[in-house]
Amino acid sequence: MNHQPVMLAEVLAALPLEAGKRIVDCTFGAGGYSKAILQNSEAQVLALDRDPSVEAEANAVMAANANRFSFCLTEFSGLEAAMHAQGWEQVDGIVLDVGVSSMQLDQSERGFSFMRDGPLDMRMSRFGVSAADVVNQLGERDLIQIFRVYGEEKRARRAAQAILSAREIASITTTGQLAELIEQAFGGKRSRIHPATKVFQALRIFINDELGELAKVLLVAERVLKPTGKLVVVAFHSLEDRLVKSFLRERSEAPSRGSRFAPLTEQTPFYPSFIVSNRKVTLPSSEETARNPRSRSARLRWAERSTAAAFGTVPQLAPMPTLALVEAGA
Ligand SMILES: C[S@@+](CC[C@H](N)C(=O)[O-])C[C@H]1O[C@@H](n2cnc3c(N)ncnc32)[C@H](O)[C@@H]1O
Repeated sequence: MNHQPVMLAEVLAALPLEAGKRIVDCTFGAGGYSKAILQNSEAQVLALDRDPSVEAEANAVMAANANRFSFCLTEFSGLEAAMHAQGWEQVDGIVLDVGVSSMQLDQSERGFSFMRDGPLDMRMSRFGVSAADVVNQLGERDLIQIFRVYGEEKRARRAAQAILSAREIASITTTGQLAELIEQAFGGKRSRIHPATKVFQALRIFINDELGELAKVLLVAERVLKPTGKLVVVAFHSLEDRLVKSFLRERSEAPSRGSRFAPLTEQTPFYPSFIVSNRKVTLPSSEETARNPRSRSARLRWAERSTAAAFGTVPQLAPMPTLALVEAGA
């Protein structure tokens, strides 16, 4: 496994790692965080991942740390069930390193990268609707919405129209085909960044419901973290980071009173469910980005759970076409 854990020292420093603490690593990947926690503390670790290809590594970690580590193959939405399965009601720390791993990006057969030709797949869990199902079945308006919102792609309409014309001739089944047709639709390469970057990002976020999953796990974290427990999140693009930032802001800052000229009214008391001591996002050091260029876009935020009740309100997300509109493997 060649995934280098991102901002590892910062993540370890943010987590409570005294003996007996219970930590959930929601994104096991190559096990970078889990292994470092096990090596540097006497904490207990429960790790999750939705990708079955990480199971062999997880089993090896389990064999070496039988009574301090366990693994559950599940999406974030299975976090509480996985905790209950080992008798945990609450935990002291939850860490998330959201996004794709180097193993997922580097294996052409996973279909995540426009740099490597392979099947247009992109499914982290290896089942369900693939990126090919989406590009071959959804209508123009839905594709535009996905590229605009999840890719922040200004040329979303042009990309969607190019896909619709291409698939009239033959289905789009490979990453190479999609990358090339988007490149042509956008008039070729004009910078070092591949023209299909945002379209690929949007499809990946859509078929893996990455923002929906993140919203769900933030909500669960608020419910299951003990008072003083820590939530630590490393995000890789602005959509994820914005969601984490606004979730933590809503839970830690009293809403503003509006205009200072407005008449004073009785304020409803505000009981923050999270305490954010460092509002600034933490970025990787220049030494880390030089050593591991993939860490470049990482952003870390962390917060401490207070003693107040959970807000329980679901973070708002942009409206999106439903995945149920798409038939898997049609
Ligand atoms: C960036 S990698 C984590 C790397 C890990 N921190 C390490 O150092 O080895 C992200 C992992 O999270 C998993 N993942 C992403 N979204 C998930 C979700 N909603 N539920 C469960 N696992 C998820 C991916 O399959 C991937 O293996």
